[in-house]
Amino acid sequence: MTSATPATPAPGSSPQPERPALPDGVTLPEGVTVAGLRALAVSLATAGGALVRERRPERVTVAATKSSDVDPVTAMDRAVEEMLRTRLAAERPDDAILGEEGDDVAGSSGLTWVVDPIDGTVNYLYGVASYAVSVAVVAGPADPARWTVLAGCVHSVVDGRTWDAGLGEGATRDGVPLRPVGPAPLGRSLVGTGFGYAASRRAAQARVLTEVLPQVRDIRRLGAAAIDLCLLAEGALDLYYERGLNPWDMAAGSLVATENGARVTGLRGSGPGEGMTVAGRGEALDELVALLERAGADGPEDTAASR
Ligand code: IPD
Repeated sequence: MTSATPATPAPGSSPQPERPALPDGVTLPEGVTVAGLRALAVSLATAGGALVRERRPERVTVAATKSSDVDPVTAMDRAVEEMLRTRLAAERPDDAILGEEGDDVAGSSGLTWVVDPIDGTVNYLYGVASYAVSVAVVAGPADPARWTVLAGCVHSVVDGRTWDAGLGEGATRDGVPLRPVGPAPLGRSLVGTGFGYAASRRAAQARVLTEVLPQVRDIRRLGAAAIDLCLLAEGALDLYYERGLNPWDMAAGSLVATENGARVTGLRGSGPGEGMTVAGRGEALDELVALLERAGADGPEDTAASR
């Protein structure tokens, strides 16, 4: 069994720099460190990416659909998730697992691995080069509004960009610390967003978009929330919002974002989650939250909309 604890420094080597304390109420199992969990997240996400690259068939097909007939699962989503679960069972047998493509696995350590084998499955299906393997480990409930994300990695499969972060340790891309990013005014902000798979949700999201678009520089819908959050982290997007994200879409990317100074929140004083996830910096973030609240972005959806 591989431990998530890094090797003990050799006698005489310089001591590890002191790490910031974990938030109140968050404790790690004996012998476990954020750095060790982070290294495992990177190893898992990059191994998942290698599998996707090696085994991508000439023509990707849909194996099944989930929440609607345009919400696909491919054989590769399943293969990568199975590999991640097998490795976690061997290397972290006491931890719980919450994954996009399988049943929840209970644990006894207080830690949960939150994994998305392919975030951006529609891009993978069509050969659009923005999809990622996302692996994070959280303490506390597996609920984005209440969990503490300890470590995470987002590995962009096609170009190999790899973002990772550890709580209190900062965030890197390809091992290089992300540069600090300053806020942009709302009117000059490039805003990432995404849309759900149900027609009723999309109808509501389209209405909200008509309120947001005139107020900002432009909108990007890139198709993989985990990558969107990492782009936000490094300043390639100024703001991001989306209704309907699942925990596995956001776990790793949100830590990369917050570890580089961004805030990730919900509306009306709530934390981020399925209801709404908004990420950004400074006043522009507060203005976008207010704009989304006024637009009723978390309000009723038009159930009459169908496809
Ligand atoms: C989806 C992507 C997309 C977002 C959807 C997610 P999936 O994840 O992150 O960008 O707009 O809300 O469901 O289904 O490809 O893992």
